[in-house]
Amino acid sequence: MANNGTSRPKVVVTRDLGPEVMPLLLNRAEKDIDILVWNQDRACDRTWLLENVAGASALIVLVTDKVDAELLNAAGPQLRVVSTMSVGYEHVNVYELARRNIKLGYTPDVLTDAVADISIMLALMAGRNARETMTIVNNGQWPEYNWAPFLFCGRQLSASRSSPIRVAGFIGFGRIAQATLARLVPFGFTDCLYTSNPSSKPNPSRDSQIATDQRLRSVRRVDLQTLAEQSDVVFVLAPGGDETANLVNEGFLKSMKKTAVLVNASRGSLVDSDALAKALREGWIWGAGLDVVKGEPGIAADHPLVKEPRCAILPHIGSATIETRLEMATLAVNNALAAIFDKDMPASLDL
Ligand code: DGY
Repeated sequence: MANNGTSRPKVVVTRDLGPEVMPLLLNRAEKDIDILVWNQDRACDRTWLLENVAGASALIVLVTDKVDAELLNAAGPQLRVVSTMSVGYEHVNVYELARRNIKLGYTPDVLTDAVADISIMLALMAGRNARETMTIVNNGQWPEYNWAPFLFCGRQLSASRSSPIRVAGFIGFGRIAQATLARLVPFGFTDCLYTSNPSSKPNPSRDSQIATDQRLRSVRRVDLQTLAEQSDVVFVLAPGGDETANLVNEGFLKSMKKTAVLVNASRGSLVDSDALAKALREGWIWGAGLDVVKGEPGIAADHPLVKEPRCAILPHIGSATIETRLEMATLAVNNALAAIFDKDMPASLDL
C-alpha cells in the first residue's frame, strides 16, 4: 500500500466530483489517503495526468479519460484500482488492467432509470418533430395560422386504433434496455425484439418472465435484419467498441420501416452518422433521437445530421440528473476506497 514516500495510499481524481461527494475523500476522519484532483472545469489534461499519476494506488476517472498502457505505466506497479464514474468502460483498456492485476470499478444500476427515461424522451422527440418545431418557435416563426389539421404531425409512440401492435427493438438487452421496455408497456407496446452479443447464451426463461410480467405478447431474441424490419422504434443500448461499431449502417437503415424511429442512448460508434443523415434525408425512416454521436464530444454544426429536421441530438446527457450523478460519483469513490483498503468493491467488473 505504501507509495509516494508516505504510508498513505494516493488517490488521483480526474475531475472535481462536487461538494457533496469530494468530502468522502477529503474529509476522512482517518486521514489515511493522499488526494490529488484535477481541479479545472474541463476534461483532465492528459499531460497533467501522466505527470501526476505516478505512485497512485487508485485512479478515479470519467469517460473522457483514456486509461491505456501508457497511463498505467506512468502510474506504476502499486496501482490497485481504476474506478470509472460510468457504466461504460470503452475508454479503459481492460486487457492491460487484467494483465497487471488492477481492479476495475464502474457504476451500473444507479443510472439505469435516468438513461431509460431519456431513451423514451428521445423516441418521443424523434417521432413528434420536436427538433423542427422547437426551432421554429425559438426563431420566432410560430405560424400565424397557429393550428391546422395536419400541421407538424408526427408519428405516435403509443398504440392507436390504426397501429394496435407496437414493436420495440433493442440492439443490446441489458438493464437499461429492459427498463426502457418497462416504460414502453404503458404506451401499449405489445412485442419486444432484441439482439445480443453473439457470444452470450439465449435466455428464453428470462424472456418469457418479462413477457408475463409486463403484459407483452412476446420478447424474442432475433437477428439484426429481423429487428430492423419489424420494429417501430429501434433503441441502440449496447456497449461501444470494435465489435459493435457501425451496426446501424446503410443496410440496417434501409431495412427499417419508413414510419420507424431510431434512438441511440449508448455510444455514438454504433451508428454510422453519414448513413443516418442519408436515411433521414431520403425518408428511409421517420426520425432519430440521439444522445450520443460518433466522434463526440461535439458534432460540426454543418454536419448533415444536425441539419435534419427530424433528428434530435442531445450532448450525451443520458445519466445527467442530479440524483443519478450524485450516486455515480459516490459509487466511483466507494469502489476506489474499497479496493485500496482490501474491502469488497460495491461494483467491480470481472476482468
Ligand atoms: C456511462 O456511464 O457510460 C454513460 O455513458 C455516461 O453518461
